[in-house]
Amino acid sequence: MNDGTVSTHDNLPAELLHKNNAPVFSLGGKIYELGNREGYRQFWTIYHRPPEAEYRNYLLERRDSLIPLDERSFKGAYYTPLAVVDKAYDKLTETLGHNWQREYIVWDMCCGVGNLEVKHSNHRNIYMSTLDEADVDVMRATKTYVAAQCFQYDYLNDDITDDGKIDYTLTNKMHESLRKAIADGKKILVLINPPYAEAGSALTKDAKTNVANTKMGSNMQEYGFAKRELFTQFVARIAKEIPTATLAMFSKMKYINAPNFEKFRDTWNAEYLGGFVVHSQSFDWLKGEFPIGFLVWKTYQNTNKKIVFTEIITDVLDKYSNPIGEKSFYNLPNSTFLNSWVKRPKINKQSCILLKNAVSPATRTIDVRGCNWSDNAIGSLYLSSNDMQSVKTTAIVSSGYNSPGGFLVTPKNLWQVAIVFSVRRLIKPTWINDRDQFLQPTGELTEEFKSDCLIWMLFNGSNLTAGADDLEWNGRKWSIVNHFIPFTEDEVNASGRFESDFMVEYMADKIFSAEANTVLEAGKTLWQSYFSQTDVRSVRDELKLNRPDAGWYQVRKALQARNASGDFPLVSFKHFETSYKALTEKLQPMVYELGFLKV
Ligand SMILES: C[S@@+](CC[C@H](N)C(=O)[O-])C[C@H]1O[C@@H](n2cnc3c(N)ncnc32)[C@H](O)[C@@H]1O
Repeated sequence: MNDGTVSTHDNLPAELLHKNNAPVFSLGGKIYELGNREGYRQFWTIYHRPPEAEYRNYLLERRDSLIPLDERSFKGAYYTPLAVVDKAYDKLTETLGHNWQREYIVWDMCCGVGNLEVKHSNHRNIYMSTLDEADVDVMRATKTYVAAQCFQYDYLNDDITDDGKIDYTLTNKMHESLRKAIADGKKILVLINPPYAEAGSALTKDAKTNVANTKMGSNMQEYGFAKRELFTQFVARIAKEIPTATLAMFSKMKYINAPNFEKFRDTWNAEYLGGFVVHSQSFDWLKGEFPIGFLVWKTYQNTNKKIVFTEIITDVLDKYSNPIGEKSFYNLPNSTFLNSWVKRPKINKQSCILLKNAVSPATRTIDVRGCNWSDNAIGSLYLSSNDMQSVKTTAIVSSGYNSPGGFLVTPKNLWQVAIVFSVRRLIKPTWINDRDQFLQPTGELTEEFKSDCLIWMLFNGSNLTAGADDLEWNGRKWSIVNHFIPFTEDEVNASGRFESDFMVEYMADKIFSAEANTVLEAGKTLWQSYFSQTDVRSVRDELKLNRPDAGWYQVRKALQARNASGDFPLVSFKHFETSYKALTEKLQPMVYELGFLKV
């Protein structure tokens, strides 16, 4: 770093020089020209030359944001904003007492450039290690942590023997005093925001396969799927190395409640002391909206007595780090999850077309699932995982299920499908409930609840069942039959015979609530409007309106296209929308009352 004429920091890996009157960087002995001269010029229109020390140090602290996105993603290098660090320190005081900065030796073994330690008032008690030597250089150059012990250390590879033991003589990088503190059983607080990268989720092709390929990861069989995540690899080494450590960690919440982490929870032994969740958007670069936890644990990895927790309660902070309430997270057995409630029908040898929408054939060719039919099948439930974050992938279609968690719908499981579909769609996803798991019902499911869910599903925007001919997929033409029309041809003045009257027959002996009946009536009026006109060619082609048994998706979309064109009498959806809203509001609280979700 340069103040215009002289270097302001020693030992930084890069230097700014001038060559032929143009600025260039010298990095590791090589000269690099500026990638963007205009960007450089604009930088100097914002900062005075030379920038004040305060800005220079800030730029160095934020060096992480200059790392290319794919590398950042690979190393999980997302820094913790200082406002969130402030709240973490408050939480540590609340859980460990006012003197924690004096009583505990702190080790942050993935410290980056040290954001988590900025607020600590007793740097002599801190050990800071991290993967990149360059980060250690930045800390030395900014002189932010002169009294702390900072060193480069790859926590997931260094000093780990092939059979997973810890042997400090392998690299001799670990500070003798820290080794001794561990051996003497001193009170150690591990304060970390470990990398979030997971095998299969990083950006580049290589990263996908290599990201969790560490020595620690290859010695974690007892942790199940959790070995694929870098953050749980940190936890597993800490459990081995400092079995009674206090652990204060930023991370996603999946280790608390996700099905893939059941084995991790069985193996890891810790008592929850307190914590908060904060909106993921407080962290730069994190995509999506979900809770990031800062949870404090006392670990007991050296006893046989298992500490079992079923619920932890956290404070909730919004994206500006303001407290907005509390939230419970549950650790429940996978056997109680909703995704194991319905018995999957056996498939037969008959193949079926895969769709990516109501009438659009699938285009994906890898990881193709669900292209076999089942005896009596009437469609499929399209699903992915069991938590709120994946509710957007819930739909019913008139062909194969084309999704990892999906299955075929039959007359036998239809009542359960209607419930699974409805409870997954009824509650609005928010960043706070994003990782909540759906559970099997604990309350009594009345006939009214079942038939309400059926109608709610049939008239939901994600009912993508349809009837269509001439769908091209996998080198041939296919037809799909719609078994989900709740009306007879006569009731809606259809243009021809429906190939299936399954739904009418299925509903014949059921009693519907007043709310469900109102939706049915409003829906019937819309279906009648659909048959009262013929759509223009482009709409007919797009929605594949080439047979009478069009589905709710096709009916709705055709009417919307007519309204938008202005060439047809306007069809109002108002009555339908109000009645559907009334049914929705009736069912929403029942999702919690019947135990499908926990508050
Ligand atoms: C989420 S960032 C947190 C950085 C900093 N502690 C903060 O809170 O702002 C994770 C850090 O872990 C570092 N890291 C990744 N893999 C590591 C490893 N195997 N050993 C040590 N540090 C690692 C990354 O370089 C990155 O700086």
